[in-house]
Amino acid sequence: MRLLVTGDAGDIGSVVVARLLEEGHHVTVFDDLSKGYRDTVPAGARFEQGRIHDTARVIDGAGFEAVVHLAAFSRVGESVEHPARYEENNVLGTARLCNATQTPGVNKIIISPTAAVYGEPVVAIITEETKTAPVNPYGSSNLALDNDLARRAHAGECAAINLHHFNVAGAYGSYGERHRQETHLVPIALEVATGKRASLTIFGDDFPTSDVTRVRDYIHVRDIANAHVPALAAQEVGQHDIVNLGNCSRFSVQDVPEAVRNVTGHLLPTKISPRRAGAPGVLVASNERARTHPVWIPELPDVTTMVENVWRFVPERAA
Ligand SMILES: NC(=O)c1ccc[n+]([C@@H]2O[C@H](COP(=O)([O-])OP(=O)(O)OC[C@H]3O[C@@H](n4cnc5c(N)ncnc54)[C@H](O)[C@@H]3O)[C@@H](O)[C@H]2O)c1
Repeated sequence: MRLLVTGDAGDIGSVVVARLLEEGHHVTVFDDLSKGYRDTVPAGARFEQGRIHDTARVIDGAGFEAVVHLAAFSRVGESVEHPARYEENNVLGTARLCNATQTPGVNKIIISPTAAVYGEPVVAIITEETKTAPVNPYGSSNLALDNDLARRAHAGECAAINLHHFNVAGAYGSYGERHRQETHLVPIALEVATGKRASLTIFGDDFPTSDVTRVRDYIHVRDIANAHVPALAAQEVGQHDIVNLGNCSRFSVQDVPEAVRNVTGHLLPTKISPRRAGAPGVLVASNERARTHPVWIPELPDVTTMVENVWRFVPERAA
């Protein structure tokens, strides 16, 4: 297929594009490099720099059959400090992108909202029917674009799949887990292991979980990328689906430093700080729907593998 992938210079986008190229798709990538890196765009993809608010110039006449949309701001803390930025970038930007697909008839769109759309769920396992109730502006911006895409699909403008990503970690070759301002637990813990940071801060030790720290469902970035392959083949115009991408597994914040100690053999001092605003206690996905529609089986569910894959390309790692 001829594909436009937005946000490809980012953590997840680079791995998704690498997989889509392996599948033989023709990929044009679009990124403003506000958070990503030019050198993470895989060779073989055509790169266009710009904001998603201004995609019409690359979409018109290009004959794209589908858009995989991964360009967004995705930091909970930043969204709490600057909610208007999240509204402008994520919600308005996605609406403009979808509008630009209308005239040339790009009729399939895959988006990647966060599990933060579910807020602080009252159920132990989150299904696609679980009530959405975001507790931070990042989640709210994702819920708005989730709903917008559903409305567009139901109106017959396109086919749409909203792939709800849970906590994405890991790397594929040299792609993945590289951020200008690091907020992800695995790379931060590895920075502590290499001595780049003094200690790992664990935010909150008063959650109603077995070890009182937050519980997350970590999903390997390669499994996220793999899910895009059948998703591109599914759906007809007018159809819309939401699919949770997680492992249905519970890793506490304490499990990650443990995996990092095991993989690196380094000490990992930790310290406890108060909870961060807008951070839910437990987010664990049911992946039953993903396993059947589209057909997808996560291959790398172990958090130790995710840590190992990132550790392999940390330049400062000890011999
Ligand atoms: N990483 C996770 O754990 C996770 C979890 C759930 C959902 N997601 C979603 O997956 C997507 C990708 O996340 P990521 O972790 O790769 O983030 P990232 O910050 O690494 O990558 C996002 C990319 O989008 C680009 N971008 C941002 N706004 C843009 C705009 N207006 N126009 C053009 N380019 C723009 C950035 O430059 C960056 O390269 C996001 O939609 C995010 O909400 C990520």
